[in-house]
Amino acid sequence: MEFRYLGTSDIRVSAVGLGTWQFSDSWGVQEYEQAKSIVEKAIEVGINFFDTAAVYGRGLSEQFLGKALKELGVREDVVIATKLPGEFLSRHDVLKGTKRCLERLGTSYIDLMQVHWPPLWNNFPTCEYMRALEELVHQGVIRYIGLSDFPVELVDSAWSCLSTEDLVSDQVRYNLVERDAEKEIIPYAEAYGLSVIAWSPLAKGALTGKYTPDNLPEFKDVRRGSALFHPDNFRQIYGVVEVLKEIGDKYGKTPSQVALNWLLRTSDTVIVIPGAKTPEQVEENAGAAGWRMTFEEWLRLEEISGRVLISRVVW
Ligand SMILES: NC(=O)c1ccc[n+]([C@@H]2O[C@H](COP(=O)([O-])OP(=O)(O)OC[C@H]3O[C@@H](n4cnc5c(N)ncnc54)[C@H](OP(=O)(O)O)[C@@H]3O)[C@@H](O)[C@H]2O)c1
Repeated sequence: MEFRYLGTSDIRVSAVGLGTWQFSDSWGVQEYEQAKSIVEKAIEVGINFFDTAAVYGRGLSEQFLGKALKELGVREDVVIATKLPGEFLSRHDVLKGTKRCLERLGTSYIDLMQVHWPPLWNNFPTCEYMRALEELVHQGVIRYIGLSDFPVELVDSAWSCLSTEDLVSDQVRYNLVERDAEKEIIPYAEAYGLSVIAWSPLAKGALTGKYTPDNLPEFKDVRRGSALFHPDNFRQIYGVVEVLKEIGDKYGKTPSQVALNWLLRTSDTVIVIPGAKTPEQVEENAGAAGWRMTFEEWLRLEEISGRVLISRVVW
């Protein structure tokens, strides 16, 4: 496994982490033993970075993750990142919401607390919630502060509210066919020492090679409304999958491994957190790190994926 520093902190996290939104009704891992086997395999293959959120399964994901890490006896060896919803951002709600996360995770501290999305209707002043988070760092309840789905302008203003702590990360959608992060947030992260935590790094499974234009997911889960699997969009994505297969064959790697490797190769600021529904998927995804495709192969993927235009206007 390859490790990368989280922002300018001294924490080193595996370049491939584990996303655990899958432990929820949205994705379908609702049996604790299944979730535990996924976490156990992650530890076995060298993953030390686990992403969850208060909203995943309305707390189920945090509960399963915390319980599994405790039973495996590895809490001190891993980095837990969780998130407070953008509606929980009054000072009072930051403190109360964090307490609930700690209870569900069964831990006395959270390594990385992220603001899940910028407040929308409630208009909480940015400095109110950033300073509440800073207060929690001073109390030893959280170790580091991160954001999620914040555009550069808002990252900048949130960061400027902190006086004694640094922001370490912004978590954004980033995969080979949804590359908006390259326009602003990655250059900003490179300039200011932030980590970019890439969510949906496999485009919700569209880049794994197991789906084809004639075999799309059954839409039992959260992908039901995803533009990625709309036939007009997926046809274009499949052209990228074919190149992923071709490059992977040369290295004995799968399309998923090549797709994740491409993101890690694109910027040193990137950490990927693919979700997994089985231990086999975690093991495969961990194999995305620790090797390099050639620059020509990287460029070929850069060019072909750059031509994909995912339209969200599908109805
Ligand atoms: N901050 C945010 O706003 C935000 C938003 C979304 C996600 N996230 C985080 O990012 C994580 C990952 O994103 P995501 O769950 O949206 O999508 P993803 O990681 O791109 O795709 C995950 C899905 O792909 C399939 N898969 C994974 N590994 C595979 C493999 N090796 N071979 C074949 N199929 C494989 C699995 O589904 P199937 O087997 O059913 O195909 C899995 O559920 C989440 O768990 C969550 O922690 C954050």
